[in-house]
Order: sequence, then C-alpha cells, then structure tokens
Amino acid sequence: MTGGGSGDPRGHGAAAVRTRRGCPADLDQVNALHGRCTPSSLSSRYHGALRRISPADWRRLVDPAHGVTWVMQEDRCPDDVIAVAHLMRTGVDGVAELGILVEDSRQGRGLGTRLVGQVLDHAAAAGCHTVTATVQAGNVPMLRIALGFGAPRPRGAAVMDLRIPVGPGGVPGSASR
Ligand SMILES: CC(C)(COP(=O)(O)OP(=O)(O)OC[C@H]1O[C@@H](n2cnc3c(N)ncnc32)[C@H](O)[C@@H]1OP(=O)(O)O)[C@@H](O)C(=O)NCCC(=O)NCCS
Repeated sequence: MTGGGSGDPRGHGAAAVRTRRGCPADLDQVNALHGRCTPSSLSSRYHGALRRISPADWRRLVDPAHGVTWVMQEDRCPDDVIAVAHLMRTGVDGVAELGILVEDSRQGRGLGTRLVGQVLDHAAAAGCHTVTATVQAGNVPMLRIALGFGAPRPRGAAVMDLRIPVGPGGVPGSASR
C-alpha cells in the first residue's frame, strides 16, 4: 500500500486541524492520546482493555509493509495527536482494515468522518475495493460514518463487521465531503 500524506488545512471551529502520515516518532504522543481517552472509547477501538500501544506494535502500524497510519493534529497544540487511524493489509487482495480513535473531548465534531474520508481516498488510490471495520453494535458514530460512506447496514450482533465499498462502487471520501 503506497501513497502520500493527507495535508488538510481546513479549520475546525477556531482551530485548524491537519492530517499527516504517522511515523515511528509519534508513539509517545499517540500513547498520550490514549491516556486522554476514556476506557469506553479505548474499548470501542480495541475491543479489550488495551491502554497503550507497545513499541513493537507501533513499528508494525507505521510500517508500509503492513499498512498506513495517519495522525491528526491541531495547529494550536502542534505537539498533541488528537486522532489516529490505521489502514492495515488483511491478506485478502483489495481488502484493508480500518481502525480509528478520536480523542474523547473532540468526538462528535466531524473529525472522525473527515479522517475516515481521507483513509478511504487513500484506499481507493491504493487499489482497494473494500475497507472493513469491526465495531460494537452500540457504536452509533462509527456505524453512521460507515453507512454515510456507503456500507450496507450490518446484521445485528454484539460485534459487527462493517464493509465500506471504495473506488468506483463506493461513496467518494474526503475529496467531496
Ligand atoms: C467512532 C469515532 C471515530 C467517530 O468519530 P467522531 O469524530 O466522534 O465522529 P463524527 O463527529 O464525525 O460523527 C460521525 C457521525 O456520528 C454522529 N455522532 C457523533 N457522536 C454521536 C453520539 N454520541 N451519538 C450519536 N451519534 C453521534 C454524528 O452526528 C455523525 O453522523 P451524521 O454524519 O449522520 O450526522 C469516535 O467516536 C471514536 O474514536 N470512538 C472510539 C473508538 C471507536 O469507536 N473506533 C471505531 C472502531 S475501530
């Protein structure tokens, strides 16, 4: 999976928010983000009790051989990571898996939608046809994002596998939203 960063100078309220590719040096700030998130958000993301990403796991997440990671930052707090997203290879041709976490205090302001859109744009450019995400059934924001980008409504279960179509069959990502 290849592709460049997704600079995004659009403002969000009073603060401009930018997205860039994650790198090995971001681990401490990403773990600081985890420290500012509630156990509920972390559980929604990881489906378990994970609170910190290990150096080995982070190296894998930012290794292009395995996938792509993005971080969001606000211009007014340039050292803080306020959201992180990963698009990881699955071993199935054309299918990649999304994981995303937005800082609790910044949820519900459109950042998740914007970041997913950017990830889907990248996935389409990289030749994917489907982006998957595993979410708990009560995760309304993630479900709304996936449906908004064209995912079929998943069948009810405690844990749902979302499948977002990308490329010609999908709703365009950030470029047109
Ligand atoms: C899921 C998550 C990424 C969404 O990011 P966000 O920035 O909060 O989402 P947005 O502000 O873009 O809102 C997305 C949609 O959910 C809706 N929404 C947001 N917060 C909501 C809430 N608390 N209740 C109901 N709907 C909500 C928004 O109105 C929007 O829907 P719309 O476009 O149809 O109007 C974020 O909440 C998060 O990090 N959660 C914890 C980790 C997680 O669940 N990750 C997903 C599994 S990998």
